[in-house]
Amino acid sequence: MIDNDHLIYVIFGASGDLTKRKLVPALYALFIKKLLPINFALLGVSRSEFSDAEFRESMRSAITEFKEIDDASRIDEFVEKVYYQSIRFDDPSSYLPIRQRLTSLREQTKTGGNTVFYLSTPPSLYGVIPQHLASVGLNRQDDGWKRLIIEKPFGYDLPSALELKDQLLKDWTEEQLYRIDHYLGKETVQNLLVTRFSNGIFEPLWNRNFVHHVEITSAESLGVEKRGGYYDSSGALRDMVQNHLLQVVALTAMEPPSSLDPSAIRNEIFKVFQSFRPIKREEVKHVAIRGQYLASTIKGKPVIGYRQEQGVKQDSVTETFAALKFYIDNWRWGGVPFYIRTGKRLPTRVTEVVIHFKPTPHFLFSQNSVIQSGNQLVIRIQPDEGIVVKFGMKTPGAGFDVQTVNMEFHYSDLSEQRIPSAYERLIYDAIKGDTTLFARTEEVLEAWKFLTPVIDSWKSDAEVPLYGYPSGTWGPEQTDDLIEEKEMTWRHPCKNLSDDGVYCEL
Ligand code: BG6
Repeated sequence: MIDNDHLIYVIFGASGDLTKRKLVPALYALFIKKLLPINFALLGVSRSEFSDAEFRESMRSAITEFKEIDDASRIDEFVEKVYYQSIRFDDPSSYLPIRQRLTSLREQTKTGGNTVFYLSTPPSLYGVIPQHLASVGLNRQDDGWKRLIIEKPFGYDLPSALELKDQLLKDWTEEQLYRIDHYLGKETVQNLLVTRFSNGIFEPLWNRNFVHHVEITSAESLGVEKRGGYYDSSGALRDMVQNHLLQVVALTAMEPPSSLDPSAIRNEIFKVFQSFRPIKREEVKHVAIRGQYLASTIKGKPVIGYRQEQGVKQDSVTETFAALKFYIDNWRWGGVPFYIRTGKRLPTRVTEVVIHFKPTPHFLFSQNSVIQSGNQLVIRIQPDEGIVVKFGMKTPGAGFDVQTVNMEFHYSDLSEQRIPSAYERLIYDAIKGDTTLFARTEEVLEAWKFLTPVIDSWKSDAEVPLYGYPSGTWGPEQTDDLIEEKEMTWRHPCKNLSDDGVYCEL
C-alpha cells in the first residue's frame, strides 16, 4: 500500500486504444496487487457520449481482452469505481463541468484531492487541456497533489517542444509533470542500472578502454498497422529514436548516480544527453540511414509496402527505418561509436543492447577458429528478456581452435516472478510521486536538439537517399556501411525457423 490513501485518476482520451489496451488493464493489475489507494476512483473523459454504465462495460471487456494479470476475481469491484464524463477538449466551458464532477465524485467516493490527469489524447491537445484545467483551478494543490502525465511525442521538433514546454510551465510546475516514455518502464531497461552498478565485474570494463562499440537495436516485425495517419507525419526518428532509443542509450552510458534519489539518477541521464557529439548537417548522409519498407512476401504471405498502408500518402517519404552512428563526448566514452537502429517490418521483434568489447591485442589461436571478433554482452530487453555473455572456448579435441559460447540468464527462469508491464510500473510510480523513470523537460529538449540536423537534412537535402527495403529484411543494406571495420557487422540474431516463424536466440 502506498502512503497516499486517496486518489482520483482522470484519463483524457478514455475511449482510445491506449486506455483499453494498456492503462486500464494496468490499473486493474495494481488494484489486484493492492497497490492502489483504497479510496480510488477512475474518471474517463473523452468526446464520445457514454453513460457510466456503458463505459464500465467497455472497461470490463478491455481488462478481460488485454489481460495484464491472471486474476479476474475482482473485476466487478474494480469497475464499480469507474465513471465517465464527455467533453469537448478545446472548449474552455467544458472544464467547469469536469471540476464539478470531480467535486461530487470526491464526496461520493471519499477520494480526496489527490488527482492524476493522464493525457492519452492526440498530441495537439497536450498544451490545450492542461491550460483549461488550470483555468478552473484544477492545477492547484491546496487540497491534495495534482499530477499531469503526458504521453509522447513531446513536440514534433525542437521549436514545437520549446513551445509546449512554455505552455505547460505557465500553469504547472516541472514537479507536477510526468512525461511517459514507456521504455523506461520496462523491467529489463531498468535492469541496465542494476547490471551495471551492482556487479563488480562489468563496471570496470564499461568504458573506452575496453569497449569497442555499442549497438542498440529495436526491431519490429509489424508494419504501421492502423496508425498510418499518425505515423506518416512522424517516422521512425521521431517515433522511436528521439525518445525510447536515446533513453536506452542514456541508461547504458550514464555515470553511476550518487544515490537512487530520482534527481541523482536523472541528473546523470541528462549529462549523457548533453554529451552527445553534435552531428553536422553535411555529415548526415554518412552517419544516418533511412529506409522505407516495400511490399514483399513474409513466410509465404504477401505483405503490402508502406506507401500502400491506410492513411499513408502514396508518395510518402517518411522513414520506417532509421539507423545512426554517433559519439558521446565524455571521459568514459571518448572515441567509442554508438550504433542504433530501429525499424518496422524487420524480420522479428527484438530490442537489445550489445556491448562489443575490444578483441585481445593479439590472437594466438588457430585460424580455423569460429569466433566473433570480440566478447559481447547482450542485454535483451524484449522478448526472451535476459543477458548473455559471449566468449571464446576451446573446441574440444586436437589443436587450439576456439569457438564462441554463451553464458546466459533468462528472466523466464525466474518462474515465480511476474514481470509487470511498463505502464503498470510507471502508473504506480506516478501515484507514488517517484519521477525517476520519467523524462525531464531538459532531456527531451536535448534529444530534439541532437536530432535537429538529421530531421532538417532528411526533410530538405535531396541528395540524402531514402532507401527502400523489402519487408522482412534488416533494413537497407547501406546500414552495414555505418560500421567502418570490414570484419564487423550488426548483430543479426534471428534465424528463420520454418513456418513457425523467426527465432531470435540470445
Ligand atoms: C511506441 C511507438 O512508442 O512504441 C510505436 O509509437 C512502437 O510505433 C512502440 O510500435 C514499440 O513499443 P514496444 O514496447 O512494443 O517495443
